[in-house]
Amino acid sequence: MEKKFEVLPEHIAIIMDGNGRWAKNRGLKRTEGHKVGAKVFEEICEYCAEIGVKYVTFYAFSTENWKRSKLEVTAIMNLFRGYLDRMQERVLENEQAGYRIRFLGAREGMPKDIVSRMDDVERRSADKTRININIAVNYGSRDEIVHGVRDIVREIQNGKISADDITEELISSHLYTAGQPDPDLIIRPSGEYRLSNYLMWQAAYSEIYIDDVLWPDYTPADLDRAIAEYAKRNRRFGGV
Ligand code: FPP
Repeated sequence: MEKKFEVLPEHIAIIMDGNGRWAKNRGLKRTEGHKVGAKVFEEICEYCAEIGVKYVTFYAFSTENWKRSKLEVTAIMNLFRGYLDRMQERVLENEQAGYRIRFLGAREGMPKDIVSRMDDVERRSADKTRININIAVNYGSRDEIVHGVRDIVREIQNGKISADDITEELISSHLYTAGQPDPDLIIRPSGEYRLSNYLMWQAAYSEIYIDDVLWPDYTPADLDRAIAEYAKRNRRFGGV
């Protein structure tokens, strides 16, 4: 695809919201909304790769989402399982796909068979460079910071570093997103004005774009609109 945008965010983070409402509006079960949402997720991954976005991060399941009904949690986990199985094959069979896939979030608490699939997909895709896809699963920003702080304290206790070595960079390097750039643009479909415990440290200077479209209806044209709006904004990073 020829170059489509003059200004393109290097890293886009998306909150896949509105699956439940989409299903309810159609008299369907919430799980049907997640099923369509999972398909849209794959389409948007491919579109981001085509237009040259280098990092895209999706919020698939939060540390708070365990509070949902067992039926809904199981359905989301099954969609995730199916996706991982397909990616395991795809990474092997289609070397051109070029997706480097990583998962952000706590592995503990996740079903063991899913964790081993996640590890496998991460390992097999580690040398791919077309696009970096992050999927936040069992993810919460506060939980991420708690894990990072614990690691840092352990390093201090072991005498590896001292308190004065704690810098913004050191903290960033102890988060799940270690080594990756902060998101330039965060997109939240479905009209909610909240970060919902998503990338709160990393979002310090992100542009935020709220869209009314529900995630299962989300299309590449909606992403184009968000990118066009991003291009118009003047990012000063606290300067003048
Ligand atoms: C938010 O919508 C969506 C979720 C909590 C689940 C998102 C999961 C998927 C799209 C499928 C699995 C993911 C992968 C990576 C294959 P909501 O249910 O909160 O919507 P509502 O606010 O309208 O109720």
